[in-house]
Amino acid sequence: MEYQFPEDFMWGVATAAAQIEGGAAEGGRGPSIWDAFSHLPGNIKNGDLPDVACDSYHLYEKDIELMKELGVKTYRFSFSWSRILPDGIGEVNPEGIAYYKALIAKLKANDIVPNATMYHWDLPYKLQVMGGFGNREVISWFTNYAKILLENFGDDVDLWVTFNEPIAVYVGYAKGFFAPGLKNEKYARQCLHHLLLCHGETVKLFRKMHFKHAKIGIVVDIWKHFPEREGNAEDIAMAVKANEIEGYGMFLNPIFLGEYTDVYRKYLDENDMVLDIHEGDMATIHQKLDFYGLNFYNGLFDNAEREKARQKAGPAGGNYQDRPASHPEKLVDVLHMLVDQYKVDIPIYITENGLPHTEDKDDFETLLNDQNRIEYIKNVLQALHQAMEEGVDVRGYYVWTLMDNFEWSAGYAPRYGLYYTDFKTLERIPKKSAAWYRKVIQDHGFDVTGQTG
Ligand code: NOJ
Repeated sequence: MEYQFPEDFMWGVATAAAQIEGGAAEGGRGPSIWDAFSHLPGNIKNGDLPDVACDSYHLYEKDIELMKELGVKTYRFSFSWSRILPDGIGEVNPEGIAYYKALIAKLKANDIVPNATMYHWDLPYKLQVMGGFGNREVISWFTNYAKILLENFGDDVDLWVTFNEPIAVYVGYAKGFFAPGLKNEKYARQCLHHLLLCHGETVKLFRKMHFKHAKIGIVVDIWKHFPEREGNAEDIAMAVKANEIEGYGMFLNPIFLGEYTDVYRKYLDENDMVLDIHEGDMATIHQKLDFYGLNFYNGLFDNAEREKARQKAGPAGGNYQDRPASHPEKLVDVLHMLVDQYKVDIPIYITENGLPHTEDKDDFETLLNDQNRIEYIKNVLQALHQAMEEGVDVRGYYVWTLMDNFEWSAGYAPRYGLYYTDFKTLERIPKKSAAWYRKVIQDHGFDVTGQTG
């Protein structure tokens, strides 16, 4: 086998509560910011709503059957905070606890390892009314919620993730095209600081609970930008801004190195956005983790001239969700950067990777016969294999996503699933990639030479 992975490599699929569960007002669930945001006209493409989504609130057993068909060893999902605590704080909803108990029990009965995220973008709406992540009180709201999760599910979940892609909070508070739909950059940056404190305090709490085998980490996506023209000052400046000021640097520096960078602080200074940082905050954020979750999609090349021309042509539009595949080989660089620059010396999981097909552009045939998704995943896995050969400690890989689902402000148009979801009948239909992935898992790898698919 040309691309052979270890026998115990954790192959998986990933989803998130707000994107698949539906059951928005069922089982005692309270609304989240995404419910509120998506019901305001103009926020979601085609006016799509997450109210039913894939209806996994009722059909989770069906989802697990699909996972069995694929032969995955692990499932990454998220808890809906407002299903556990309808108001975000206060009364616990027993039906919410029961739902996740049943889901986890069923996964375990099928030998599928749970990997669960506490926060995948769906803040309870009631907490947003109280200032959301802008209110420093969010630290106690979040740790209260985390404690309830850990008390109820602690060692039943093998891999705990505090936050998924914290950048979404920046997008939601600074750019306005994610919930809660605000456009205040200064405020957004303070929100991110609070989010990092929620993360740090949760890890401290987790350590105090002394679980037997549960582990805790965070998922930070990396869309690494590179200057397109070597040595070109403008291209370099663009890439630095994208990486350090609007991208992964905002999170990885405080989490893994215990500080915001000078570049970041200077930017905040010059733009009247100095953060309210209390004594001890940086130490709280800088907690030793058990694993790092990397969501990897693309490497990107910046060219200042092209960007100027693009800006002249008008606004770019807010969604990154239907970006075509670009530079999957950059995964090698990104993994080495984690180890070398950010001193990540803990196991890494690729917690998301995948490719969308956009319904407006592709016909049903193409959506099911998704050869280019297979090719793209193959390219990423080849890069992953190379990095692992070079010594990077990667323990697992999750395809985003099990089945087509609610792709945030892009609605149901971008289809990322290994299974096609018919949103009218809720039927899940396997795409070509599902069979391909099953075989990769079965064989612990794949060949490229002489293969057609
Ligand atoms: C990142 C997010 O974690 C997930 O929710 C989203 O659907 C995928 N990437 C694809 O955009």
